[in-house]
Amino acid sequence: MKKLLSIITICTLGLPLTGQDLPAGGPPPAGQPQMQQTPPVIIPLETKNTSLVFRVSNRDGRLYQAWFGPRLINTGDLANSRDAGHPAYATFGTDNLFEPAVRATHNDGNPSLELKYVSHEVENIRPDVTLTRIFLKDPEYPFVVSLFFKTFANEDVIEQWIEIRHDEKKPVTIFNYASSMLHFDAEKYWLTQFHGDWAEEMNLRESELTAGIKILDTKLGTRAHMYQTPVFMLSLNERSDENEGQVIAGTLGWSGNFRFLFEVDEKGSLRVISGINPFASEYSLLPGKVFRTPSMIFTFSDKGKGLASRNLHSWAVKYGVLDGTGPRLTLLNNWEATGFNFDEKKLSAILDDTKKLGLDVFLLDDGWFANKYPRNNDRAGLGDWQENRAKLPNGLGYLVREADAKGVKFGIWIEPEMVNPKSELYETHPDWVLKLPNRPEHYFRNQLVLDLTNPKVQEFVYNVVDGMLTSNQGIAFIKWDCNRMMTNAYSVYLKDKQSHLYIDYVNSLYGVLERLRQKYPHLPVMLCSGGGGRVDYGALKYFTEFWASDNTDALERVYIQWGYSFFFPAVSVCNHVTSWGKQSLKFRTDVAMMGKMGYDIEVDKMTENELKFSQDAIANYSRIKDIIYSGELYRLISPYEENRAVLMYVNQAKSRAVLLGFILNARYGETLNPVKLQGLDPAKTYKVQEINVSNEGRRGPGMGFGAPGGIRTYSGDYLMKTGLNVGSASPLTSVVYEITE
Ligand code: GLA
Repeated sequence: MKKLLSIITICTLGLPLTGQDLPAGGPPPAGQPQMQQTPPVIIPLETKNTSLVFRVSNRDGRLYQAWFGPRLINTGDLANSRDAGHPAYATFGTDNLFEPAVRATHNDGNPSLELKYVSHEVENIRPDVTLTRIFLKDPEYPFVVSLFFKTFANEDVIEQWIEIRHDEKKPVTIFNYASSMLHFDAEKYWLTQFHGDWAEEMNLRESELTAGIKILDTKLGTRAHMYQTPVFMLSLNERSDENEGQVIAGTLGWSGNFRFLFEVDEKGSLRVISGINPFASEYSLLPGKVFRTPSMIFTFSDKGKGLASRNLHSWAVKYGVLDGTGPRLTLLNNWEATGFNFDEKKLSAILDDTKKLGLDVFLLDDGWFANKYPRNNDRAGLGDWQENRAKLPNGLGYLVREADAKGVKFGIWIEPEMVNPKSELYETHPDWVLKLPNRPEHYFRNQLVLDLTNPKVQEFVYNVVDGMLTSNQGIAFIKWDCNRMMTNAYSVYLKDKQSHLYIDYVNSLYGVLERLRQKYPHLPVMLCSGGGGRVDYGALKYFTEFWASDNTDALERVYIQWGYSFFFPAVSVCNHVTSWGKQSLKFRTDVAMMGKMGYDIEVDKMTENELKFSQDAIANYSRIKDIIYSGELYRLISPYEENRAVLMYVNQAKSRAVLLGFILNARYGETLNPVKLQGLDPAKTYKVQEINVSNEGRRGPGMGFGAPGGIRTYSGDYLMKTGLNVGSASPLTSVVYEITE
């Protein structure tokens, strides 16, 4: 219920509004036209350390971005500036010379859009969260664009989205519909992007933006972020590092095609337009319907990238990730350990292993379903979500009960948006599949995408999950996968609206997830898409965590997890100890501890030593995971800059911390300086204890304190000024320090 009293309608600037009155449910009526000369309307959006300020020009009635950066003491000063600023939401067709945020063709064929300020209102949602709505309207048409800003004062984060609505007589086609447009005026701009591919997600590259347009985008539809995650960091003037420099970190909460467009104009100003990728996606908007864009989430830091990440993390655990501050289950998964090759007996033994290791839940991966075309490899069965009778004669219910009897929980893998042509689902419902009617089917991992825009398919997907959870009460965890992108896509259901497919697909997916979350609000679900092919805050509000990559080689994982750490909190990043990499078990375990640790390993092949080491490590992890999950992250040494990676987490009270150090390569004669810790209290005295000490003998000299369990005591001041040794002459060695006041 909207609390009317807490909404303050700040201002209504009367502008000549021709066309109809503003639609119901939108902004308040604009009142009598009446031109006000001074002072200009100033709309400040503020967080603890940031101001984003808009100003309405008295000259043309348009809305301008007057400031974005460190918090201004008096935003009213901007009323006296001679320069209105940059267009807050630039249109196309009138006098804009650069990339627009919005473009529309009116129902009479007029391809131009003009937006003038009408009014705005501010609502305090919570003491530290404010929602500001700014209403803009085309003076010639009943076409309204509403800008929404949620400011999270304590986290220094702003969430922005747009609603577009019209009351014209016929549908209006919208071609561009950005979530946000931001402007910067700096000497130079340095863009850090995070791109990759299957098994090599989140590579960092930083480059200078020069005149013209640079685009980071995807056109893949589903598994949309396979090559490019919807995130960026932008440094102003100088390249920023972890602790210095002005940085904007931005991410789009959208699980489909996104686009970030960076345009440096002839004067050296930069506009950043973020939103759904408009590519091949013109949208026909019916009168009275609201087109709501996904949220752009951004933060400004004038203390480098480290703070920008911490801002996003503290926002994400509260608002971005489902149950972000809640507990998490540790997993034993069987994908790498067994592949498709298992039966009830083998799974029963893995349930014992789960208990033996000290983990919470066994996650049964792909291969448990389909009968006519059994799912014994990835060529068949996808879509037929009945237990395979040969592998699971007693059904999933039996495994749930077995798990319960053994004192662990049971979880399961599904990929409900997809279908193998070799399946009963495909045979029964060929019209539920996205494929061009007159061209050969194009497969990726031997599968096709279901047409989720069709309500019958939405119902099917909902029932796959709900049916499974209802008939097997006690399923405690789900991994939701999505293994291919869209190609040769055509929706029978959408008929002449094929250009709606990319957008409607994602909104339909969110609809199904929303419905499932109403019934199962807290069931932990891992988001997966052939690894990290779908990682964003649009999806994460329905998911408790995500699978970062199918690449579980611990060396590669250091880089991949490092990349995610810029935008996503450790509690959401699933890292499993597996046998893929050739590193020591200790190294693999320590790397998994960078986030939400789990296992995917053949426990019965472990030596006694390995088992003991893992049990101890899991016990250590249980003790320190709260620091990793909700502590503040400090990236101390980047693997992109040295042959080692060092990071630490510190709890809010600065009374407990964990430091993780990895030697990735070792060169003859290389000097590895002591690493200065961060985030501690200089006045406190800390006990530093090495944990996860292994007797494998692969830990080189110079790492840790040599003696297992050795403890040393230092002041926070010393640790932050002088530092600790995190070095070794042996590559692929690692150390974990537990630091306690
Ligand atoms: C994807 C996932 C893997 C695994 C397989 C199963 O590749 O990323 O973790 O679940 O599917 O087929």
